Amino acid sequence: MSIDITTLTLEQKASLLSGHDFWTTKSIAEVGIPSIVLTDGPHGIRRQAGDADHLGINDAEPSTCFPPAVAVGSSWDPEVAAQLGAAVGREALAFGVSVVLGPGINIKRSPLCGRNFEYYSEDPLLSGVLGAAHVTAMQEVGPGASVKHFAANNQEHERMRISADIDERTLREIYLPAFERVVKESAPATVMCSYNKVNGVYASHNPWLLTDVLRTDWGFEGAVVSDWGAVSDRVAGVAAGMDLEMPGSGGTTDQQIVDAVRSGALPEIVVDAAVRRVLALTDLPHIATNDFDADAHHALARTLAADSVVLLKNDNAVLPLARVSRLAVIGTFAAEPRFQGGGSSHINPTRTDAALETIRDLALERGATVEHADGFALRDDDANALRAQAVAVAGRSDVAIIFAGLGDQEESEGFDRDSLDLPAAQIAVIREVAAAARRTVVVLSNGGVVSLEGWHDDVDAILEGWLLGQAGGSALADVLFGVVNPSGHLAETIPLRLQDTPSWNNFPGEQGHVRYGEGVMVGYRHYVSAEAPVRYPFGHGLSYTTFVTKDLRVEMTGKDTALVKVTVGNTGDSAGKHVVQVYVATDAGPVRRPLRELRAFAKVSLEPGEERTVELTLDRRSFTYWDIELHQWVVAAGDYSIQVGVDVSTIVAEEAIALAGDVIVRPLTLDSTVGDWFGHPIVGPALQEGLSAGMTEEQLKHAEENPNDLKMVESMPMQQFLAFTGGAFPQETLVQLMALSRLDPASERSPDLELATRGA
Ligand code: BGC
Repeated sequence: MSIDITTLTLEQKASLLSGHDFWTTKSIAEVGIPSIVLTDGPHGIRRQAGDADHLGINDAEPSTCFPPAVAVGSSWDPEVAAQLGAAVGREALAFGVSVVLGPGINIKRSPLCGRNFEYYSEDPLLSGVLGAAHVTAMQEVGPGASVKHFAANNQEHERMRISADIDERTLREIYLPAFERVVKESAPATVMCSYNKVNGVYASHNPWLLTDVLRTDWGFEGAVVSDWGAVSDRVAGVAAGMDLEMPGSGGTTDQQIVDAVRSGALPEIVVDAAVRRVLALTDLPHIATNDFDADAHHALARTLAADSVVLLKNDNAVLPLARVSRLAVIGTFAAEPRFQGGGSSHINPTRTDAALETIRDLALERGATVEHADGFALRDDDANALRAQAVAVAGRSDVAIIFAGLGDQEESEGFDRDSLDLPAAQIAVIREVAAAARRTVVVLSNGGVVSLEGWHDDVDAILEGWLLGQAGGSALADVLFGVVNPSGHLAETIPLRLQDTPSWNNFPGEQGHVRYGEGVMVGYRHYVSAEAPVRYPFGHGLSYTTFVTKDLRVEMTGKDTALVKVTVGNTGDSAGKHVVQVYVATDAGPVRRPLRELRAFAKVSLEPGEERTVELTLDRRSFTYWDIELHQWVVAAGDYSIQVGVDVSTIVAEEAIALAGDVIVRPLTLDSTVGDWFGHPIVGPALQEGLSAGMTEEQLKHAEENPNDLKMVESMPMQQFLAFTGGAFPQETLVQLMALSRLDPASERSPDLELATRGA
């Protein structure tokens, strides 16, 4: 909408920078500015017609509850994210919603985070690729996205005031790249700032985050929206680039903006820029079409859910269920599915599928019988009697399938868990049923990782179903019977113990601060680097068929870009989908690198016997680390291994490459170490020559025979070294060398130097 904002009064402009009510922006009818609706998101539309809230308490209009992000993450399939995004977009149009709040692309730093079900992965590439696919597809349909929560909102504990204290490299390498990718590839209409502080400054008025990084570095042109109630200093927020405060503040903060402009504290052009960005949102569709195909969307939700299920274990090929005549189905979740998390993303589904019903249908088609027992109750009940009944039913069956998991009360937005365990009553049922049944399959429904310890070895198969949306029940039945071949892979590690998780000592923080002490060693980066055992590694997932990986070739397509070609084949007898995972491993550079990092992936569908050569691109970023001295991405010179893994711990092919790396000019100062001085590409040789020239033959011989002498002083700053040596080099020489150190070693010819030394 091209509104000439010079026709607006300062009061009118300020009024546009906060919401009208919980879900809408203000209109100014006389100049034709409409109000638009922003609402959750992201795996369905939560359009509240009655009382509004942001905690999922009051009801919303029915809409399709698609699989939440935890499931989409496990699909490892941008196509799943895209189809979901497009369908949510169509429903948004139906409800007249202009901006859908999501997707959430925060990194799963700890498996305890109460909102992990709303996030994709512990890995930034996987999160970013899926987030970008969702946003692009949804925005192509029409509505805008609000990528959230920017940034470093990795826990619920004290989320509205805690300071996430994170070093620069960790922010750039782990917590920001998913946002960077979505912003650069998908141009989301909005970015939602998080509640928390980042290094002591609230995200909602953090100029480094909202302007320097988001707009200057990444080129974001959309509007920044506050998380609901995240604003703590409105005027500082406008100055920092936080455009739209949601929900409204009843006019209080609008007045603060007006006063700040009038007093000269806030330049009006800054307000104008924010107003223009908010007004751009009114170009998004906002007239309800009242029409979407609920049946088609339910069917789509079933397909997407089935593609997200992860088969963790399948001993004795107990799955898919074939040739069974008596099935025991145990667990409350079989009849009353848990399929989404609690809080702002809570959708009022158009319908829900219970696994039990579909299992009955599919069993009937195959001439098998099904007996069901609750096994446990979500709220306190007669656990012993329920368990005894389940054991009796299991004893009469060929295969017992236990639907276990976490209830709504165990995980939700707003709080973190303090344990990874399943409820004790469920563990008892699993163990006793496994002892009584001939074969036991456990199907899990949980938003955050649960521990498998204490019962893992008792059962034959485990299907990790996460939270799968409203059609999750039928999708699980499809996978159990082999109607769909499972193809999900873990987007997060399943640890052996909570104490093994990298953030264990620093989660969820104390006294207002959470220190991200594990640095870049988040999730699998820690486990593989420390060779710490886990129950199931990142990337793990079984299939009913088998795959082979061969003929890996890496072709350099530039100085620091490569094309990976690898052939994958389906060697089993059912069609299936395989995920090619490409990792890069190196210890090049001055920083500690994770043992390997995911740098590319692709999901391929293969018929039995089919082979396909897959091409994956490794861009420059695949090889970089973030350098905190230069504040930029750097490719370090050295050896790199390109590895294809069936999970992060199981590498099945690799090829080595060597990279020349970036030409880095690190200017020398007196604070640089002796090692820096001697290691400098121009200064080092000159220094060495000058030093040798000033030495007696005896001194030279001594230096040659004692190379460790230099090693001992290598880490000493030049300033201190000079003090100890009584000024080995005269001042003018040092000044000359420091000037030389700023030259580009690639383009400058090393000059012949006559260095004055006093002898060392
Ligand atoms: C959540 C956001 C959500 C918003 C609106 C907040 O509490 O953190 O993710 O979009 O409420 O419901």
